[in-house]
Amino acid sequence: MEEILIKDIDIIDPKVNETAQMVITSKEEDTGKRKKLYIESYGCQMNFADSEVVTSIMQSNGYDTTSSFENADVVLLNTCSIRDKAEQTVRNRLGQFNNIKKRKPEMTIGVLGCMAERLKEKFLEEEKIVDIVAGPDAYRDLPQLVLSAEGGEKGVNTFLSREETYADIAPVRLNSNGVTAFISIMRGCDNMCSFCVVPFTRGRERSRDPYSIVNEAKDLFEKGYREVTLLGQNVDSYKWSPEENNKSWLEKKERKGESIQVINFANLIEMVAQVSPELRIRFSTSHPKDITDEVLYAMKKYDNLCKYIHLPAQSGNTRVLELMNRTYSREWYINRVDAIRKILGEECGISSDMIAGFCSETEEEHQDTLTLMDYVKYDFSYMFYYSERPGTLAAKKYEDDIPLATKKKRLQEIIDKQQEISLERNRLDIGKIHEVLIEGTSKRSDEQLQGRNTANKVVIFPRGNQQKGAYVKVKVNDCTAATLFGEVVS
Ligand code: SAH
Ligand code: SF4
Ligand code: F3S
Repeated sequence: MEEILIKDIDIIDPKVNETAQMVITSKEEDTGKRKKLYIESYGCQMNFADSEVVTSIMQSNGYDTTSSFENADVVLLNTCSIRDKAEQTVRNRLGQFNNIKKRKPEMTIGVLGCMAERLKEKFLEEEKIVDIVAGPDAYRDLPQLVLSAEGGEKGVNTFLSREETYADIAPVRLNSNGVTAFISIMRGCDNMCSFCVVPFTRGRERSRDPYSIVNEAKDLFEKGYREVTLLGQNVDSYKWSPEENNKSWLEKKERKGESIQVINFANLIEMVAQVSPELRIRFSTSHPKDITDEVLYAMKKYDNLCKYIHLPAQSGNTRVLELMNRTYSREWYINRVDAIRKILGEECGISSDMIAGFCSETEEEHQDTLTLMDYVKYDFSYMFYYSERPGTLAAKKYEDDIPLATKKKRLQEIIDKQQEISLERNRLDIGKIHEVLIEGTSKRSDEQLQGRNTANKVVIFPRGNQQKGAYVKVKVNDCTAATLFGEVVS
């Protein structure tokens, strides 16, 4: 089985640092296949999940994975374009691969993911060592592209599909602890947030067949996994109807005289919740404009639907939100938070993404972000300063006019505010008993285990006789802004 292998290349604290870069690489595996694949992934969870699909496709075509790129026949870099820094990291990495390629010219180097999609053929001109460029919807074509590259012909496929969901491909778990796993439930994004490159790199939104999602969850549960995270850029707009998606299924139902219904996100999480009460379900990301009370009531109904919502606000000011084309106001956002508190209570974890220094943001508007944070009391946030992306609506329409020093100052104020609130929120957990799913040994010490409570907070406690994958009750007796500490109680 694959096991966790995360390299701390940059500063690893995605919760608080703009420079945070998470990198996940393939692990050494030998099932006697002919060739070796090295794959390294940057960016969001969706990209990590895609690398698991890519590995599955490559395994079926004669490749074992390796953890050292020097030994690989094919090196794939799954890239991210979300901020300029993300792209710089990839270019630096390609520079390092260049030295190996000089010694080993037969090695094939491929660039996948969002940066591949954004730059297309230009990548081959800009980075001479790259042999293959494949966008997020072109992964089935990879074995063919590799063959062409081996024959000396560089290959590009950046076709974006309206249908591709890779529903039939069983992902090979790459960064897994054997307890938690990701399941992609949709691809693409139909929103047009003005700062965001994703609609251009990932194409139109499409939802995956719910039955294939439930089957993947069942399969993971049978293999010992105890938590799945359902992934999409905007999970609340999940929508699947047999009419649009599966004609033969529709016909079968019609023959049996059953009614045909559209499956929305609330329906989907209920379906997955029923796989087993022992399987925890999380999801990400919820869009404030789309999250419905129906979803919140479904979460309330099932204990195994974790009480945690990632609800990125981006800004606390209505004018800035309009410029960002987020299609909600500060008041609408607050209304959604109030609904979460009313239906799921104070204990439900809420987190956010925040952008500091968006085009024309004034000091007062920045203060609105800080007061929103005070109102919501986020458990944590991912915080960034604005980075203009070529081709986006904001790049075309607005001037990137906030000086870098001001962006950084505002970001620091947001980070400081979040640290303060995280500590305040965590202190409320002291003295309480939490159900924790054990994910493995704590990074701090072999004598301690770590897991998370339903609200997604990391809890660390002495090992005792406990095993990973088990649920335990932990009484919390201390905390920092990032972590809860406690002891197992019977
Ligand atoms: N679909 C998710 C966001 C995915 S991108 C959502 O709508 O919430 C993850 C985060 O990166 C965004 O929420 C945003 O905070 C940040 N981000 C996206 N584009 C950015 C840019 N150009 N500059 C800075 N941060 C950006
Ligand atoms: Fe980007 Fe907005 Fe889509 Fe999120 S919802 S991926 S921020 S366009
Ligand atoms: Fe990056 Fe693409 Fe994800 S731009 S954040 S890898 S969708």
